[in-house]
Amino acid sequence: MLKEVVATRYVTPLREGGSLPGIVEADDLGTYVMKFTGAGQGRKTLVAEVVCGLLGRRLGLRVPELVAIQLDPVIGLGEPDQEVQELLKASGGLNLGMDYLPGSIGFDPLAYEVGSAEAGRVVWFDALINNVDRSWRNPNMLVWHGDPWLIDHGATMIWHHNWPGAEASAAKPYDASDHVLAPFAPDVAAAAEELAPLVTEELLTEVTAEVPDEWLVDEPGFATTDELRRAYVRPLLARAATVHERITLGERTERPASAAPGWLTGHARPWPHTAGTKGATGTKEDGAGE
Ligand SMILES: Nc1ncnc2c1ncn2[C@@H]1O[C@H](COP(=O)(O)OP(=O)(O)OP(=O)(O)O)[C@@H](O)[C@H]1O
Ligand SMILES: [Mg+2]
Repeated sequence: MLKEVVATRYVTPLREGGSLPGIVEADDLGTYVMKFTGAGQGRKTLVAEVVCGLLGRRLGLRVPELVAIQLDPVIGLGEPDQEVQELLKASGGLNLGMDYLPGSIGFDPLAYEVGSAEAGRVVWFDALINNVDRSWRNPNMLVWHGDPWLIDHGATMIWHHNWPGAEASAAKPYDASDHVLAPFAPDVAAAAEELAPLVTEELLTEVTAEVPDEWLVDEPGFATTDELRRAYVRPLLARAATVHERITLGERTERPASAAPGWLTGHARPWPHTAGTKGATGTKEDGAGE
């Protein structure tokens, strides 16, 4: 299981984040960006952060360290903001913490150059995990000490919202046209050659073992949390082998940003999204541009 710490002080909310993450201090004297179990996005977002964040780290990508943070909602009693109070009250127990990168700035593709090998590794990784949240509109990358770091893997593995279709999703293409690193000639073939052999059943089993049980219990269709952990391993393993053949890098779209999908905001529409019920601007089911 993830290293567990106890929150000792709620410092401030991070207003840029849609899920209202906050900065907290913990009993290991660390400072973390905390994502709350009580947020509307739900606990699957936290599972995705752990599985994909740790997978990225194991593949050698820069992802800040992750921890599980035990929260006693009383630490928020003095917090003046009603919305924050409610979030804290709804989030007693284990929450996710990501090591806070002090002084980091948001990645700007016009101000920062990334080599094609590194761009390829990130795009390949995002294709593997079906990340729809690393577009030029919302890069979810920070620059810290001169290097790019990957954050926010909550909107990945869309298939874990629909288990019966999960394995079929492993065959789906990934449209990287709007990926924030698309302009850097990502060498996905080289990335696949380097990274795909590392994504073994053993590695994925280790990574999924880190997810706290309390975010996995009582998932419909699964008798045990370990059964659910195995359900994460299979699609990722299948996808790793050949996903590079299905990454497309076309013209970037200039259409206005679409609203966050319902499964992310907690106002889910019925799954699957059939023609006509899909998001108003949604033409890309599985790409970086949503
Ligand atoms: N580890 C970190 N160190 C420093 N700042 C961070 C870190 N993680 C997140 N932030 C800041 O907080 C913001 C929100 O974080 P994040 O994107 O993870 O939240 P979110 O609620 O999932 O956001 P959204 O869904 O709006 O993309 C980031 O854009 C960044 O500015
Ligand atoms: Mg974000």
